[in-house]
Amino acid sequence: MITNRTFTMLKPDSVEKGFIGVILEKINTAGFRIVAMKMTQMTVDDAKEFYAIHKERPFFGELVEFMTRGPIVAAVLEKENAVEDFRALIGATNPAEAAEGTIRKLYASSMGENAVHGSDSDENAAIEGAFHFSGRELF
Ligand code: RTP
Ligand code: MG
Repeated sequence: MITNRTFTMLKPDSVEKGFIGVILEKINTAGFRIVAMKMTQMTVDDAKEFYAIHKERPFFGELVEFMTRGPIVAAVLEKENAVEDFRALIGATNPAEAAEGTIRKLYASSMGENAVHGSDSDENAAIEGAFHFSGRELF
């Protein structure tokens, strides 16, 4: 199924560094409409569930620790071709390999602390959006 929505989190490093405003500006300028948004903090159980696909990976413990150490900004975004276009806007997982002008190139500091999350498929965008938001919170 093709949808026009994706899900993002501005990760704890972005919030700590005061980058919420500049990152949202990039997202708006790139043509995404904000369908839902909130600042929240994930519990350890939340992060383990959200990133369950990575539970066997060596960085899993570090990832859960990082994602729960402070608040995040969660949002559902809408745009034609949302998932793919948002992945292009954020850039490669490793900021050293991210293209010029991408959010990770501009604001991420490392592979682990890489500023933003972006869903990798329409199916996961729907699952991840529903993880953080009820239907009544989607506009
Ligand atoms: P995300 O899911 O957060 O949008 O990131 P991604 O698709 O670009 O990368 P993914 O492979 O899904 O990895 C999820 C997150 O785990 C952390 N990570 N650390 N130290 C490492 O080698 C390593 N590899 C991945 C990153 O925070 C990555 O975004
Ligand atoms: Mg991923």
